[in-house]
Amino acid sequence: MKFFLDTANLDQIKTAGEMGIIDGVTTNPSLMAKEGITGNENILEHYVNICRIVDGDVSAEVISTESEGMVEEGEKLASLHEQIVVKVPVIPEGIKAIKYLTKKGIRTNCTLIFNAGQALLAAKAGAAYVSPFIGRLDDIGQDGMELIHQIVHIFDIYGLETEIIAASIRNTNHILRCMEAGAHVATCPLDAITGLLNHPLTSAGLEKFLADHRKLNK
Ligand code: G3P
Repeated sequence: MKFFLDTANLDQIKTAGEMGIIDGVTTNPSLMAKEGITGNENILEHYVNICRIVDGDVSAEVISTESEGMVEEGEKLASLHEQIVVKVPVIPEGIKAIKYLTKKGIRTNCTLIFNAGQALLAAKAGAAYVSPFIGRLDDIGQDGMELIHQIVHIFDIYGLETEIIAASIRNTNHILRCMEAGAHVATCPLDAITGLLNHPLTSAGLEKFLADHRKLNK
């Protein structure tokens, strides 16, 4: 089971890296914009900076909507660093681009997946990863977790090698439930990951241990 950090924020990536808890990073155009990274050259440089501080795959998303443009962007992104995985939206042109990039040995992460059929076609085209968005399904009153269970089940039946990244994770409970469901990866905001460490009995227990120590060691 792997944890990716879902951010383009270098400080957060460093913090998680120092704790030794992340196996990669996923970004998207919204996360890049949130960090104020604009302009093609700056964006490319930012991906390289992320690769320098994390060991593991770094998803960088294309912005073209035609397969030709996606392939051109994907080849450029992949040439930046061996850790780059090209993130492609699950639209017909994206599936075409995934097929082509896979043949060329470039790994892809198929994003914006909201049903199992989309995940299946992305896997069939050769995607290294599929990214179902659970939080956004929950937002519209559907069950994001149910989608993770369904994709895990189908991929298991057919022995598909494509890894499932549970994305759009909003909280610590989402992470645990994705792990129970058998997702290969959870890509999360940093606070959702560090939230796994929180328990009031841990805090209270530590406080008491330290108070007892202080009493006898003044
Ligand atoms: O990286 C894609 C995904 O994790 C987006 O999450 O919170 O914008 O739905 P969110």
